[in-house]
This record gives sequence, structure tokens and C-alpha cells, in this order.
Amino acid sequence: MQTISKLNSIVLAAGLGTRMKSKKAKVLHEAGGQALVEHVLDAAAIVVSPENMIVVVGHQADKVQKLLAPRGCQFVTQIEQRGTGHAVEICRSLAGQDGLTLILYGDCPLLTPATISRLVETQRNGSFAATLITTMLERPTGYGRIIRAEDGSVAAIVEEKAASPDQKKIGEINSGIYCVDSALLWKHVGEITPNPASGEIYLTDLVEILRGAGHRVAALLLDDPNEILGINQRLELAEADRILRARKTRQLMLDGVTIFQPETVAIDAGVEIGQDTVIAAFTQILGKTRIGADCTIGAGSVIRDSVIADSVRVGEYCFVGTSVVESGVQIGPFSRLRQDNHVEAGAHVGNFVELKKTRFGAGSKAMHLAYLGDSNIGAGVNIGAGTITCNYDGVNKHMTEIGENVFVGSNSTLVAPLRIDADSYVAAGSVITHAVPSDALAVGRSRQMNKPGWVSKKRKKV
Ligand code: UD1
Ligand code: MG
Repeated sequence: MQTISKLNSIVLAAGLGTRMKSKKAKVLHEAGGQALVEHVLDAAAIVVSPENMIVVVGHQADKVQKLLAPRGCQFVTQIEQRGTGHAVEICRSLAGQDGLTLILYGDCPLLTPATISRLVETQRNGSFAATLITTMLERPTGYGRIIRAEDGSVAAIVEEKAASPDQKKIGEINSGIYCVDSALLWKHVGEITPNPASGEIYLTDLVEILRGAGHRVAALLLDDPNEILGINQRLELAEADRILRARKTRQLMLDGVTIFQPETVAIDAGVEIGQDTVIAAFTQILGKTRIGADCTIGAGSVIRDSVIADSVRVGEYCFVGTSVVESGVQIGPFSRLRQDNHVEAGAHVGNFVELKKTRFGAGSKAMHLAYLGDSNIGAGVNIGAGTITCNYDGVNKHMTEIGENVFVGSNSTLVAPLRIDADSYVAAGSVITHAVPSDALAVGRSRQMNKPGWVSKKRKKV
């Protein structure tokens, strides 16, 4: 991070976001795998150190604060949402009084760090009271419109509600991203009067106030309107999500990951993937997942908050949640590594096998139709099709311990708590309720009986 000295920032995140029609505060809605406001803070972090960052919270303040507190920023609570100007005003005592203040809206998640740097540089190198980011939109409805003065500087911002029919035709819009001379900000922000129509104190009115005091305001006109998409309703949320995910897959591809039909793939912002890994269409790789090099992730698979080493093959339609998968492992198709599993190097987990809180030892195999829960399974074990660990007695969960090189025959029912020692065999179709010692064969089923001639006798009777 190149922190620029005497740069403070204020992120406005107090609003409910009525147009979202949601119980949840707008800035907490997620796009690209992160809350909107997290994207804004990430982008600002390129130039502002966390202790110089103030987030204005209001609606669901506790939740927003809980989410952002680990970043080390400061918070100001806006009890009543009286407008963007009011939200800035209440930061007065906490904010730095000199240098520059960067003001960002928490509902603009697409802003890039590069653009923020450019904004700050433009303001720093010019002779303006403030610089704000604008762009041209074909459909500017809903945004504040930029009124330019004759000298090309910004004369005013007119909000949609207050705009005349002619002003509504203006395509240049206000992004809600400003870099302001701090001294002038704190001198004049208190002069904004409530908007007669809405009663809100609009930060956008500061432009005219600064001009009235003999200062000029500059605009940094962006070519890419996508960067400053403000999220006010869910259609825009989906659009932001699409753009963020396209950026993520693009970056991964530039870094050497193969992604087929990337427009169908959802990869969260925090995911890392190694070189020459191949990601098939319709996959979702979520949360804090890390995937190594030379892996393949099959179509339809969902991987969440997991660590996958190199050369792992995840087949089609698998789910992997909060699990660690070591190198050379093969999973799927149709496997479910539900949660908290550790699959060791070279193991195979096949179709319709579910693992939960299970260590599955190196080179072990469970190829079809099994449930292995709360179990600790050694290396070189073979789990036959239809094997079930009965880990729940209706009240408590119990462990199944299986030593190295054990062979569990098909359709075995392993009633936990249970210990099966190394190098033993469990006969197919057994119900195992007692410990199996090493080297033994455990048979837990009724013996087969054949009755010769039984069928023809029965037929004669009928
Ligand atoms: C605002 C701008 C508009 C601009 C648009 C860009 C104003 C008056 N208008 O409109 O010119 O084109 O953003 O997206 O600033 N907030 C608070 N406290 C409040 C009110 C709002 O913290 O009292 C926060 C909201 O949580 C949100 C941000 O400020 O993150 C912007 O508020 P919003 O209501 O979305 O403003 P817009 O109508 O989009
Ligand atoms: Mg908005």
C-alpha cells in the first residue's frame, strides 16, 4: 500500500436502502462474494490506512460494524439518516482537519483502487477545492446530474428529484466519490441546508456552496461507467455481481488459470487458484477457498472455504465445504465433503459418498455410496460401497476409528463409538458394534442357509 500522508476517508454506509426492499441494510448485501461496503473499503485501502478511515453506520450498525471492525477502521453512528451531507458532518470531530478527505458511498462496490489513486492525485495536483468522479450514462435516471460552468469546472449537482426536464437530459452523473480539501470541507459542510422537497441534507449541495465562497470544483470524467455503478435496487446488485465476477475470472485467467465459459462461473473475491488449474463451466468457488496448481474442478461443483492442494481432481457435481484436501486426491463425480474433513494425499472419494468431520487417510478409497461421519480413517483403507458410520445415537455423536489398511466390505454398518484396528477385515453386510482387533476378520451377519428343492415344492402347493 502506498499510503498518502494526511489523507482521510469517510465511507457513508448508514442508509437502509429503501429501494432494495429488504430487511437487510443495503451495504451488507453481497456482490462478488463480499458485502458492498467491503469492496469500497478494499478499494480505499490502497491509499488510506485503516486508522484514517471512518465508516458512518446507522441501519443495522452493529452488523456493519461487526463485519468491518477487524479491518481496524473507525465508526461514527448516524442515528437518524438525514442525508449524505449530514452523514459527513457528524464525522467532524473524529476526522483529520487538514490534508485531503476522500468521501465514498458504501453502495458503489465497483470502484477500482487505480481510480481512487487517480482521483487523489488529480485533487492533490490541481488548485480546486474538491474533485469528484463523474461519468456519462446513456440512462442517467436516478443519479445526480453534473452542471458544468463555462470554464469547464463543476457548477452544481442537481439530484434527480429536483432536476428540471432539461437537466434530466444531462448524461454526466455524479458518482458519489469525492476528494475534498479537508479545511474547506469542515469550514463549509455545516452550511448545507435541508433540501426543501425531501428535508435531507445533500452533500451534493456542497459544490454550489464552495463555488459561492469563490472556490472551484473539478470533475474527473471516467470512460468506464461500470466503475461507479451505485447499487440502489436488486437489478443493479445483480449487475454489480456479474461485473465483479467477470473481473475476478479475467484476473485468474491472466494469472494462468484455465476457465471455460467464465460467464457461468462464480468465483468469490477472496479465492486463490494456482497455475494450470482448469475450472469447468457452472462451478462456484466461494469464500476463502485456496486451490493449488494443476487441479481440475468439474462442471457444477461448489467449493466453499476449503483448501485444496496441487493436482487434485474434483469431478462433476461435487460439494466441498470447510475441508482440507491434500495433493493428488480424486473426488467425485457426485461427492459431498460436507464440512471439516481432511482428505489426505492420493485418497479417492467417489460418487454418492458423504464425508463429515472425517480424516480420510492417504491413499484410502471410498468409491461409492457411503456415509463417513465423525471418523478417523487411516491410510490405505478400502471402504466398500454402502458402508455407513452410525455416528448418532439420537442424543450424541460418536467417533469411528479405523486403522491403516483395513478392508471394510460392502454394505457394512459401523455402530459408533467403534474401533477397528489396522490390517483387519470386516465382512460384507456386517453390523459391527464391538471393537475389531488387528489382523482379525469380523463377521456380523446371519449365516446363509440354502434349502435345496424349496422353489419347486412351493410351486406344487400353489
Ligand atoms: C447519491 C448522490 C447522487 C449520486 C449517487 C451515486 C446525494 C444527495 N446524491 O444518490 O448525486 O449520483 O449517490 O450513486 O448524495 N447514506 C448515509 N446516511 C444518509 C444517507 C445516505 O450514510 O443519511 C449513505 C447510504 O447508505 C449510501 C450512500 O450514503 O451508501 C448514498 O446514499 P443513497 O441514498 O444511495 O444516495 P443516492 O440516491 O444513490
Ligand atoms: Mg445510491
